[in-house]
Amino acid sequence: MASDFAERLLGWYDRSARALPWRIAPRSGGEPDPYRIWLSEVMLQQTTVAAVAGYFARFTERWPTVADLAAADDADVMAAWAGLGYYARARNLLACAREVVRKHGGRFPDSEAGLRALPGIGDYTAASVAAIAFGRPAVVVDANIERVIARHRLIETPLPMAKREIRAVLEPLVPDDRPGDFAQALMDLGATVCTPRAPACAICPLMADCRARGRGDIERLPVKPPKKAKPHRHGLAHWIERDGKLWLVRRPDKGMLGGMRALPGGDWSDTPSESGIVSVDHGFTHFDLTLALVRRGAPDAAAEGEWWPIAELDAAGLPTLYRKLTDKMLERDA
Ligand code: ADE
Repeated sequence: MASDFAERLLGWYDRSARALPWRIAPRSGGEPDPYRIWLSEVMLQQTTVAAVAGYFARFTERWPTVADLAAADDADVMAAWAGLGYYARARNLLACAREVVRKHGGRFPDSEAGLRALPGIGDYTAASVAAIAFGRPAVVVDANIERVIARHRLIETPLPMAKREIRAVLEPLVPDDRPGDFAQALMDLGATVCTPRAPACAICPLMADCRARGRGDIERLPVKPPKKAKPHRHGLAHWIERDGKLWLVRRPDKGMLGGMRALPGGDWSDTPSESGIVSVDHGFTHFDLTLALVRRGAPDAAAEGEWWPIAELDAAGLPTLYRKLTDKMLERDA
C-alpha cells in the first residue's frame, strides 16, 4: 500500500506533472528510455529545466542512442555541451556512454549499484536513473526534494548535514509501484509549488500535515550553511586575429573548463594584471573571475591551436566565459 503521503503526492502528479522532453507522462503506459533519462539527469545537475531543454533536444537528435554518443568525437560533444557549464560532466558523459557500450553491450545496468559503478554517475544520478528508468525503489534526493521534505518535517539541521535525515524520512515513503513518478513528483512540487520564495501552500497536496506551513518563516527552510567568501581571481586572454580568423586553443583536459576550446592566455591568479580592451566578470562555483582581453600579434611559435573564422565563432563551442568575452569584443568592434 502506498503511504497516504505518496498517494496524495502521486494524485497531484497525475494531474499536474510538467510535460518534459525526457519524461514519460504519468499513467500513459509509455516505456522510459534509459539513455534519455540518464542524459537528462546528468544535464539537470546544477542546471535548470529551462536551460537544459534545448541541449537535450540537440543531443538526442544528433546522438539518438548511447551507441551513437559513444561513437562521437570528443570535440563535437564538448562543443555541443558548451554553455551548460561543469565541463567535467561532459567528459564523464562520454566516458560513461563508451563504458555502457564496451562493458554492457549498449544497455545501461538496471540497478542503483550497477549504475553507480559507471564513470560520472554519483549517488544522485544512480538513484534517479534507477527509479525513473528502471522502476527501482531508490531514494532520490535533489535540492527541490530537500526543500519539500525539510519543510514538511520541519528539519532545522543545516544542509548538507540534513541530507541524512531527509533520506531517512523518504526511505519508508517511496512506493514500490511508482518510485520514478514519486521522485519526479517531489521534484515538480519543489519546482512549481514548494518554491524557495513565496511557496503556493494553498494548492499543495502535502499542506495538511506540513509542519512548516503557517509558520511565516517557511522560506528559511531548508537551513543553508553559512556562505563562504569566494576568492576573486584575475586573468588575461589573448585576441589574436588574422584574415578574419581568431586563434583558438584547447584547454588541458584536467582542470577548469578542461578539454574546451578557449582563447589563449595566461594563468588565473589572485592579483589583477594589465587592464584589457574589454573584460568580463564570471562566477564559478568556488571563485569569481575577472578576465580581461588584450590584443596580441601572433601565437607563440610552439603553441598548438587553430585559426577559427570569426564569422563562425558560434560553432566553436566556446564555454560561456569566453563567449561573453568574444561577444563583448565583437560588439565593440561593430
Ligand atoms: N530535475 C532533475 N531531474 C528531473 C526530472 N526528472 N524531472 C524534473 N526535474 C528534474
